[in-house]
Amino acid sequence: MLAVNQLSHSFKNGVEATPVLNEIDFHIAKGEMVALLGSSGSGKSTLLNLMAGLMKPTTGSILIDGSPIEKMSENQLAEFRRSHIGFIFQSYELIPHLTVRENVELPLVFQAVKPKERRDKAVSLLTKVGLGEKTEMFPSQLSGGQQQRVSIARSLVTEPAIVFADEPTGNLDTKTEKEIIDLLIELNGTLGITFVIVTHELEVARRARRVIQLRDGRLVEDGAWAGETG
Ligand SMILES: Nc1ncnc2c1ncn2[C@@H]1O[C@H](COP(=O)(O)OP(=O)(O)OP(=O)(O)O)[C@@H](O)[C@H]1O
Ligand SMILES: [Mg+2]
Repeated sequence: MLAVNQLSHSFKNGVEATPVLNEIDFHIAKGEMVALLGSSGSGKSTLLNLMAGLMKPTTGSILIDGSPIEKMSENQLAEFRRSHIGFIFQSYELIPHLTVRENVELPLVFQAVKPKERRDKAVSLLTKVGLGEKTEMFPSQLSGGQQQRVSIARSLVTEPAIVFADEPTGNLDTKTEKEIIDLLIELNGTLGITFVIVTHELEVARRARRVIQLRDGRLVEDGAWAGETG
């Protein structure tokens, strides 16, 4: 499903290149739920953005369903992202002047799906995430946890092969965080959605079945959660 091979990345600041990821290798199978852990600056967001095709690696490859995404043109990649990849942001990134339902429908608008089908899919997913009663409200009328549920529904509406989440509970209180983790685990279990979740929160790591840990841009741990290393 996802293969990361010898992936390295450096950011160029003028002439200097700062290495941020060093020769990362791992595979993720369909239906896995993986927590990506590491201290601030260890390269988690960089790795996630590379896997989601939001930027290109300096060297190495990323295969999603057998397609090497680093080799795609910008247009091919945009199209591939729309049909294969879901993304959940810490800050939700909802469009304020669209209703909750319209926000969830938006990825389907770009795929030219017919209005009735879009609407049905959005309402069905919003019901699954517990917001069946809130479909015609605006994002500002919802709590942070509810807004994150909307963004989770939006990430799933195109039936992506894999969903990436960058600190999806980072803006939430502990109780709401737990509810969102419960929801992600349930979606992973019932719909078989493959999730890669970047997190600082040990609670997320404890409850994912697999944890990949980065330190200073290197993969230092990959397996079942066994507590923090080093
Ligand atoms: N666009 C950029 N240009 C230059 N350096 C960058 C850029 N983005 C990230 N970096 C550097 O890359 C390193 C890794 O950053 P990254 O955002 O991947 O860390 P992170 O593990 O997600 O941290 P956090 O937990 O704080 O979100 C950091 O040293 C950061 O300063
Ligand atoms: Mg980050």
